[in-house]
Amino acid sequence: MTSTFASPHGGNPAAGSHPAGPRTAAPPAVEALEVSKVYGAGDAAVHALRGVDVAFATGAFTAIMGPSGSGKSTLMHCLAGLDTVSGGRVMIGDAEVTAMNDKQLTLLRRDRVGFIFQAFNLLPTLTAEQNILLPLELAGRRPHQQWFDQVIDVVGLRDRLGHRPSELSGGQQQRVACARALVAQPEVIFADEPTGNLDSRSGAEVLGFLRSSVREMGQTIVMVTHDPVAASYADRVVFLRDGEIVTELHRPTPDTVLDRLKSLGA
Ligand SMILES: Nc1ncnc2c1ncn2[C@@H]1O[C@H](COP(=O)(O)OP(=O)(O)OP(=O)(O)O)[C@@H](O)[C@H]1O
Ligand SMILES: [Mg+2]
Repeated sequence: MTSTFASPHGGNPAAGSHPAGPRTAAPPAVEALEVSKVYGAGDAAVHALRGVDVAFATGAFTAIMGPSGSGKSTLMHCLAGLDTVSGGRVMIGDAEVTAMNDKQLTLLRRDRVGFIFQAFNLLPTLTAEQNILLPLELAGRRPHQQWFDQVIDVVGLRDRLGHRPSELSGGQQQRVACARALVAQPEVIFADEPTGNLDSRSGAEVLGFLRSSVREMGQTIVMVTHDPVAASYADRVVFLRDGEIVTELHRPTPDTVLDRLKSLGA
């Protein structure tokens, strides 16, 4: 599952130079500044995010955890420009996502951000290879052949490229979704419960792959998960409760994550 990686070009500032992990001095890849989100109005208003301040380091793997309804998906959608904020600012690199118009947001999602969802969201009529290359094709970009080959080898899909999603296992489908996100070398990949539909073995495969893409390719990943084992693959875990960041852990283990969740009443 692992091999030695070097980013073929400058799309990923941390790639190659810091294989051991995040750089402390680098500006954050993504930042939320006093972000609030209110759904509905009046008596029916739901305060999903209440002034969230959090930064996600370039070249780091960060997990977001918290009880159901604590605002994890809302935060991720606001960070990725998939949903609007009610207050505060979101930055991706030096670009303010919260100041972008619809056209700019479309370009941001197409060119700078990658997504992996719980449901793999593959197109059933396309092969694995066609699914992986689709975002680049839509963006009018050509795949970098050497990079494509490296990604395919690390996800272990070389002999499955001609298969359609229905001919692949759940873990293989999710690895196709991971490869699709990685091939474009986005500044950040957002993953919402990427292993939520997988058995533990397939989940471990996908998580190991995500972690090696951070370690070896310098990819930045922000992942929402319920699972302490999944979170332990990350470099850092931030915990949400009632729309606020309440605590965080560095170098998490399943046990330390579980303890922290218990103290939150999750
Ligand atoms: N479109 C919406 N309209 C109204 N309320 C919403 C909407 N989306 C989310 N909410 C509410 O906002 C709060 C946060 O929801 P969110 O989906 O971010 O939680 P979560 O932490 O991802 O939960 P889970 O672990 O169950 O996925 C919840 O109270 C939810 O009911
Ligand atoms: Mg959610």
